[in-house]
Amino acid sequence: MATIQQQTPSRQPPKGRKDGGLSAESNVVLRNGREMPVLGLGSWMLTTHTAEAVMHAFELGYRMVDTSADYKTQPGIGKAVRLSQAPRESLFVSMKVEENEDGYEATVRNLKELKLEYADLVLIHRAPKTNVGEKVWRGLMRARDEGLARSIGVCSYKVAQLQALADQTGEMPAVHQLEWSPFGHSLDMLNFCRANEIVVQAYSPLTRGKRLTDERVAMIARKYGKTPAQVFLRWDLQHGVVPMPKAYREDHQRQNIDLFDFELEPVDMAALDALNEQFSALDKLEYL
Ligand SMILES: NC(=O)c1ccc[n+]([C@@H]2O[C@H](COP(=O)([O-])OP(=O)(O)OC[C@H]3O[C@@H](n4cnc5c(N)ncnc54)[C@H](OP(=O)(O)O)[C@@H]3O)[C@@H](O)[C@H]2O)c1
Repeated sequence: MATIQQQTPSRQPPKGRKDGGLSAESNVVLRNGREMPVLGLGSWMLTTHTAEAVMHAFELGYRMVDTSADYKTQPGIGKAVRLSQAPRESLFVSMKVEENEDGYEATVRNLKELKLEYADLVLIHRAPKTNVGEKVWRGLMRARDEGLARSIGVCSYKVAQLQALADQTGEMPAVHQLEWSPFGHSLDMLNFCRANEIVVQAYSPLTRGKRLTDERVAMIARKYGKTPAQVFLRWDLQHGVVPMPKAYREDHQRQNIDLFDFELEPVDMAALDALNEQFSALDKLEYL
């Protein structure tokens, strides 16, 4: 990791481009009208010099960071947000509560650890085993209504669980965070989310490095003069999916935001779609 400068030049709040051309400053509009950057930084295992690494990412142009209490990165991320000279409203903090917690109390507790007044997005970390999480979701709705969370969502729900949650509470999630890569995804899930105005965020979008050396991806990467990781992330963007790659190394952080000067041709998008083997870098694709 390169030396991190504590002082960043003061920046104007980013303006989302509405002209259809994607840039690092582009936002997607959520179902509640709020905007979310098209790319974020994951923070699982980003436990070494977290604040410095996140500040460095902000300097490179990242505006969103994802965390969870169990990642142990909340204090460092909160510090980076507070130290950054970028206005708070130009940064986007995505955090999680556990499915067996009180959604409201857990949001309050995590914000205390972050030392932030609000989170831009609070997600239920995973679908509960025996119900759809109505109680925890109602806690998040309360946190949102009281201004502690700007938007709320879930992770790794099945289609039927999303539908049941909405039926029981009257509200669909704004964001669905899923394990998602060319090697493991579901276009049916994506279509359901699109139809219901749910934005998909991709977790483990680089397969934790486990599928980055595939020769079929390498061929596509060579065609565009990019790396396989950049091809994975660009494939997300062109599907309207918001990737959340974790990167500690500076060269990785740079690569993963250098996605806006090329466009995958339809033939390559189709070839990447066709790599799907329901691969999971963790255990299994929980949402299938
Ligand atoms: N909701 C959930 O249940 C859930 C579950 C898992 C993850 N997540 C979130 O999603 C984020 C991302 O997922 P992940 O951390 O599991 O895996 P990932 O982003 O797929 O992969 C991270 C790994 O890829 C490496 N890497 C990053 N950029 C690279 C590049 N350009 N070329 C080659 N290697 C590269 C990183 O190395 P360095 O770090 O050394 O640079 C790290 O080892 C997490 O950090 C977390 O915020 C959420």
